[in-house]
Amino acid sequence: MTATTAITNIGTLVTNNPDLGDGPLGQIKDAALVIEGDRIAWAGPTAKVPATDDTHDAQGRAVIPGFVDSHSHLIFAGDRTEEFNARMSGQSYKAGGIRTTVAATRAATDAALEANLTHYLAEALRQGTTTFETKSGYGLTTADEERALRIAKAHTDEVTYLGAHIVSPDHADDPAAYVALVTGEMLDACAPHARWIDVFCEKGAFDGDQARAILTAGKAKGLLPRIHANQLSYGPGVQLAVELDAASADHCTHLTDADVDALANSDTVATLLPGAEFSTRAEWPDARRLLDAGATVALSTDCNPGSSFTSSVPFCIALAVRDMGMTPDEALWAATAGGAKALRRTDVGHLAPGARADLAFLDAPSHVHLAYRPGVPLVSEVWRAGVRAA
Ligand code: NIG
Ligand code: FE
Repeated sequence: MTATTAITNIGTLVTNNPDLGDGPLGQIKDAALVIEGDRIAWAGPTAKVPATDDTHDAQGRAVIPGFVDSHSHLIFAGDRTEEFNARMSGQSYKAGGIRTTVAATRAATDAALEANLTHYLAEALRQGTTTFETKSGYGLTTADEERALRIAKAHTDEVTYLGAHIVSPDHADDPAAYVALVTGEMLDACAPHARWIDVFCEKGAFDGDQARAILTAGKAKGLLPRIHANQLSYGPGVQLAVELDAASADHCTHLTDADVDALANSDTVATLLPGAEFSTRAEWPDARRLLDAGATVALSTDCNPGSSFTSSVPFCIALAVRDMGMTPDEALWAATAGGAKALRRTDVGHLAPGARADLAFLDAPSHVHLAYRPGVPLVSEVWRAGVRAA
């Protein structure tokens, strides 16, 4: 028999299953959870909790599903403090800054890259992230992209091949040759380590036709598409994401009405990354407009050393509520169930029976405090797959 543990005295539990509790978040007051092995076996009021082998008292804290951070760039070396300083003195953000990190990443050893990754993963875990996606994209040679994905794969199943982050500096004069590399030899080397393929579809990176060719080649090798779309300017990224049935179009900062309609009538999630707008002093993505149109919205950190050097989902929730028109309930859903949908996962992002037992305990009466008390480290305990992890 697998051991069972009850978590009792939960002040407010968010299950993200409307059948289990109140409202779209399926909230239960004075709640309990039963964990069996790595899974949720039961959720309901503490007064009705079944007998278990063990009990853990939440002492009135809120419990939410662990965050699903569906967009990060954590295989890198170095930082870009100077670039950030220059931006905060008035310079604008440009895709070309990526080259600084490419040089530092190529020069780093495997051990240094892995140590950096585990550092930021531990930081994210302490802030409640129990599922994360991460990408290559700072190597831009076959060997450097392949090793980035190999290192990432040891730490998560959600690994994304982003050889098409920018045109490699080695091919600056011949972008077509770089696209041929990304869709040829580099793809062959990278595909075995990745689940997803991504492209930065933007002026200064890859145009719509190049992005389509890259994602189509990835699909032919069994990778699933996602896109950096419409971040710095209007463009074809979102429409392409919908055309290719991408799981997610990420950023979505500059959207036409047709882009919003296309997302609303698709299975493509709009993943908003407010850490990037914060750190580049850019216009916020309009979450309200997307939600009112019926699109599915996810929230993620985009953690990377250039445009968004935060691993904190709670920080992104606070920004989304304060500046993007989301309610605290919508933001919490977007950072948990929304992230899961953006990764086409059904086992995480909720706490119904059968889900992986990934939980964040908050030193707060409810998840609303994540936005109401911005910048305060409210996550006081984290469980992943039924085991206390932070
Ligand atoms: O998602 N937009 C492209 N890639 C990253 C930025 C990477 C960088 O500046 O190093 C992003 O914001
Ligand atoms: Fe990104």
